[in-house]
Amino acid sequence: MEIKTFKTKAEASQAAFQEFQALVDAGGGVFGLATGSTPILLYDLLTASETIDFSQSESINLDEYRGLAADHPQSYNYFMHEHLFNKKPFRHSYLLDGTNQDAEAETEHFETIIQDHPIDLQLLGLGTNGHIGFNEPGSAFDSKTRVVDLTPSTIAANQRFFASADEVPRQAYSMGIGSILSAKKILLLAFGEKKADAVYEMVYGPQTEAVPASALQTHDNVLVLLDEGAASRL
Ligand code: GLP
Repeated sequence: MEIKTFKTKAEASQAAFQEFQALVDAGGGVFGLATGSTPILLYDLLTASETIDFSQSESINLDEYRGLAADHPQSYNYFMHEHLFNKKPFRHSYLLDGTNQDAEAETEHFETIIQDHPIDLQLLGLGTNGHIGFNEPGSAFDSKTRVVDLTPSTIAANQRFFASADEVPRQAYSMGIGSILSAKKILLLAFGEKKADAVYEMVYGPQTEAVPASALQTHDNVLVLLDEGAASRL
């Protein structure tokens, strides 16, 4: 695991931008994309850039709230269009369909997409409880795309985007940890002191299902970009 710490999240996002630029310059690539507040600065840099063109690239998104349609303002599909796809479209973007009631069909279909389009660069944020995607503590390291129950701490953390906690979906579709680990390279961003404990456990803690991000210790090409707050316990 390579770890780089920057004074600000703006500088760390600039370094992440360079990773995206390099893959575009190398011919396009398949990007695994993430949502949450963490990648927003990176997406701003990408949409403002004149050198970024994703028309030869594909994207696969990590997760989606179960039950939310693509046009729901809190769906991750909507988020991706708002923050990235509307301005910088990909040749094709694959997203989980939160409205598909047939979980088996949805998750099997998505795993086939991941197998057919191996991810070159998987972008990740980090939950305060160490989750990646929506792989909550207890997720198996070899887990594949599936339905997950969100923990009370994740529901509380994500409540700020909804009118009330009651409106936060209780389940999500998420790529599994095993699906994430199949990416050739993983780029994890974490900003702010509230992530410092999860960053510490991810880097120095034991490899345990209790901290999903500790699974990244088993991957041989992981780049972690932090600001000083997130790195404050290292
Ligand atoms: C959410 C998402 C994750 C994200 C994490 C951190 O629950 N499913 O993909 O990395 O929480 O969010 P934020 O970047 O807003 O701190």
